[in-house]
Amino acid sequence: MRKLIEANIEPNTKVFVAADLDVVIKNGKILESYRLESLLPTLNFIIKAGATPVIGGHMGQPHGEYDEELSTKHLLPFFDENLGKHSFELLENLRFDKHEEENNLEYAKEIAHECLIYVNENFSTSHRKNASITQIPTFLPSYAGLHLQQEIETLEGLAKNPNRPLVAIVGGKKLESKIPAINKLINISDFVLVGGKLGLDWTGEIPQNLVLAQDYVDVSKDIGEETITLFKDKIKSAKTIVWAGPMGQFEDSRYTRGNSAVAEAIIDSGAFSIVGGGDTIAALDSLKLLDKMGFVSTGGGAMLELIATGTISGIEVL
Ligand code: 3PG
Repeated sequence: MRKLIEANIEPNTKVFVAADLDVVIKNGKILESYRLESLLPTLNFIIKAGATPVIGGHMGQPHGEYDEELSTKHLLPFFDENLGKHSFELLENLRFDKHEEENNLEYAKEIAHECLIYVNENFSTSHRKNASITQIPTFLPSYAGLHLQQEIETLEGLAKNPNRPLVAIVGGKKLESKIPAINKLINISDFVLVGGKLGLDWTGEIPQNLVLAQDYVDVSKDIGEETITLFKDKIKSAKTIVWAGPMGQFEDSRYTRGNSAVAEAIIDSGAFSIVGGGDTIAALDSLKLLDKMGFVSTGGGAMLELIATGTISGIEVL
């Protein structure tokens, strides 16, 4: 993997930065900015070298349609404030064009047309074959951004040699994209705990080390007490814990019990914990427990897939 620190960045040139812009926005306001903060070291590095970062990424899943709420214009004040006005270019949500998710080469050339170098600072999307992730590196010299490099090194280290017992906790939405990773996690983990809506939708076989949620609050809005007891019991023996996807609807204060119980159990266990994904970060941040976790990865699905399979497509091209 080529790293940004090895790149030869010429002053007065443009550098395309595939950026993780997928933060939770409500009425145009950024609710949680961990992913955006993680971009700053790389963006400042490029600016310091005298070049202009061209920031390109997606928010949400607009699938080729314009959606005002998902416009990157809501992020402009954040970057103005943290990087300085006119020191960067911010592209509109790349997924407003369907060619992004179609991994279209012409689209990749169009969005990166003035850039001489490509940097990936979008770990959370690096398990997707999207134009800004896997196509641009086919024609530009490409490097791993500073935060992405740290994420890969930490997660690869964990995947190779976890301190056992290893307990994986998976929740949240996006069930279909997490199932392949869960199936692989079952092979490498001592226990896989599946909660959130995901636990309810599970239809496959249930191996011995797969622990599904047993009860829920208000259909699937949170995990219930029986499940919490079951999960806590597995968590307390763990030496390494990987968690992606919240247990309940964290945006609603009535359904934070599952997340806080799991988070407290992780802290009490003393295990090394790795948590990831936009929703999990937002849930832990609202509980003021994010800084109690061992390592925070920007990616949820990407993190699970990297740990489970040892590689993801966006990293292979680097
Ligand atoms: C994420 O939030 O996991 C990333 O932004 C990827 O988003 P996606 O699951 O919509 O591809």
